[in-house]
Amino acid sequence: MNKSLTLRRPDDWHLHLRDGAMLNAVAPHSADFGRAIIMPNLVPPVVTGDQARAYRDRIMAALPDGAPLRPLMTLYLTETTEAADLVAAHADGLIAAVKLYPAGATTNSASGVKDFDKVRPVLAAMAEAGVPLCVHGEVTDAEVDIFDREAVFIDRVLDPVRRATPGLRVVMEHITTEDGVAYVRQNAADGAMGGTITTHHLVINRNAILAGGFRPHYYCLPVAKREKHRLALREAAMSGPGPFFLGTDSAPHTDSAKLQPCGCAGCFTAPNTMAILAQVFDEDGKLDQLEAFTSLNGPAFYGLAPNEDSVTMTRHDAPVETYPTTIVAGDETVTVFDPGFPLYWQMESA
Ligand code: DOR
Ligand code: ZN
Repeated sequence: MNKSLTLRRPDDWHLHLRDGAMLNAVAPHSADFGRAIIMPNLVPPVVTGDQARAYRDRIMAALPDGAPLRPLMTLYLTETTEAADLVAAHADGLIAAVKLYPAGATTNSASGVKDFDKVRPVLAAMAEAGVPLCVHGEVTDAEVDIFDREAVFIDRVLDPVRRATPGLRVVMEHITTEDGVAYVRQNAADGAMGGTITTHHLVINRNAILAGGFRPHYYCLPVAKREKHRLALREAAMSGPGPFFLGTDSAPHTDSAKLQPCGCAGCFTAPNTMAILAQVFDEDGKLDQLEAFTSLNGPAFYGLAPNEDSVTMTRHDAPVETYPTTIVAGDETVTVFDPGFPLYWQMESA
């Protein structure tokens, strides 16, 4: 008999939709989420309220008619961000958060922050106005091993910045280590911190990228770590009500940009994310905690109500064959994340 589960419509608290032909190609694959926090790392980045408004309009135009998805916009924090513009954009309901990329940490992060002292006044204004800060938590120093960059960031940047800015609410994005899980947990009281976890980091460890051949479609940032960290993320994601929520970090790149001597970082998980999640939660006997992770903890952190409508996830007896393995964007293809196992689950509007 088919297994099924009804849950509040899920949200995606960290999503890259890009722009132009790529936006048109990928937006429909996230259309059944209720809300999504939209990353601002376009070229050039979304740094002002006016740019966020215009980008939101382009996203709405790229969504199928009647799609549930409501984009929640973010601004890209630079060393010259104007606190007044940011606070006004939040007060208008235009942006839900501000994104901090350490300069050089990842795709299109060149305009990010080099000197954290320069953004202290803006962070203080955000704390005062209740604007959450979403953080890409990796140091960029060449001498720090890439597998240690998240743990080092917590000690050298995140904790000092939080101590210097009382009241600042922070989301540690796409956590990949047991250190990230522990730090979020220790600091989550009173909604001071949340942590997003991606679908792919629940499925792959660093062996999946590197052992037996290099798999560029598993390369993303922060890079997947060793197995004990993946297990810590699974435990956190499945821990029920609390500070951990889904942020897919679905980050499409064309195959030609991925398959380069210096290929781009990002896993495109939008088309099959909910199917993968239902399967891994089921595998661990935690299906009853899926709703907290995908549909309740995120809105609670952002001070929003859960979505009013529901979806039904159904487990079929045979693998569902309708998930694409690649999609077309303009003249290019984009490879969809392959979890390495057949997918039996499917989401339908209830
Ligand atoms: O793998 C990633 N891809 N990590 C990020 O932080 C950015 C993203 C992108 O924009 O491609
Ligand atoms: Zn991202």
